[in-house]
Amino acid sequence: MRVLVAGAGGMLGADVVAVAGSRGHECFGLARGELDVTDEHAVEATIARLAPEAIVNCAAWTDVEGAESLEPAALAVNGTGAGNLARAAAAVGAHLVQVSTDYVFDGTATRPYVESDPTNALSAYGRTKLAGEGEVIAASREHAVVRTAWLFGPGGKNFVTTMLRLGAGAGDELAVVTDEVGCPTYTGHLAPRLVEFAERRAAGVFHLAGAGHCSRNAFAKAIFEAAGLHLRVTETTQAQLAMAAPRPPWSVLGSERDVEPLPSWHDGLAAYRARAPEVFGQ
Ligand SMILES: NC(=O)c1ccc[n+]([C@@H]2O[C@H](COP(=O)([O-])OP(=O)(O)OC[C@H]3O[C@@H](n4cnc5c(N)ncnc54)[C@H](OP(=O)(O)O)[C@@H]3O)[C@@H](O)[C@H]2O)c1
Repeated sequence: MRVLVAGAGGMLGADVVAVAGSRGHECFGLARGELDVTDEHAVEATIARLAPEAIVNCAAWTDVEGAESLEPAALAVNGTGAGNLARAAAAVGAHLVQVSTDYVFDGTATRPYVESDPTNALSAYGRTKLAGEGEVIAASREHAVVRTAWLFGPGGKNFVTTMLRLGAGAGDELAVVTDEVGCPTYTGHLAPRLVEFAERRAAGVFHLAGAGHCSRNAFAKAIFEAAGLHLRVTETTQAQLAMAAPRPPWSVLGSERDVEPLPSWHDGLAAYRARAPEVFGQ
């Protein structure tokens, strides 16, 4: 199969390109410099030239804090950009897998969110990703929207690298929020499933995140333990940290669809450490 990966220079995009190649697909991994998804004409021309049968969109504005003051710029990538890809794909009969986020929910649920639950994004980032979902579904009911969460993996700035950086300079304790509970997800577990969704032209909205859930605080403890760092993780809240973007206090993803769950986030963290020991100082 001919597979185009947009946002191939990113953390998830790099893993999707590697997996697609290892599964024998002819893969065109395009970083932002090679395909800017906000450029409608470039998107159409590239899709016409490469004639992919499947597209995985990993391109996104992922600066959650920055999006609060630059929402139109974030919307251009996460909303309009996703729509450009979705319409161009539909026009040539290519299937699109759009990657979305748990931040489309407001966090007021008391059980894991399933695909049909009402969305209500709290942050600019969440709103722009939700707009992207709408554009993709409007372009074709045959495309897939895959909501995932709290990604970590090689080649990217993520919560694990942030904690290890902060932990290294923190002395003997670090305060981490308890009022964000979600599903940490290893890109090495998610990427093969996105390619599989492309292979079988899965349609509609899916939730796919690391099994189990935890608070950011508990995740930080597990990260420090994996790195052999003896640091006391104390409790704080989003309000105390005065973050620009409100995050859902609870964004655990479940599924009402017939989807095989991903391995647990504990397994994901162990796999990440085995693959990139240098990140963990080992
Ligand atoms: N990270 C998470 O915790 C998380 C959680 C849930 C869902 N997601 C979703 O997962 C997907 C992958 O995220 P990630 O963590 O791999 O993020 P990432 O490492 O920031 O990758 C995103 C990539 O998109 C590229 N990009 C930005 N604007 C673009 C444009 N106009 N045209 C083409 N490419 C553009 C970026 O390039 P530059 O580096 O040059 O800007 C970057 O390489 C995104 O859809 C994100 O919303 C992420």
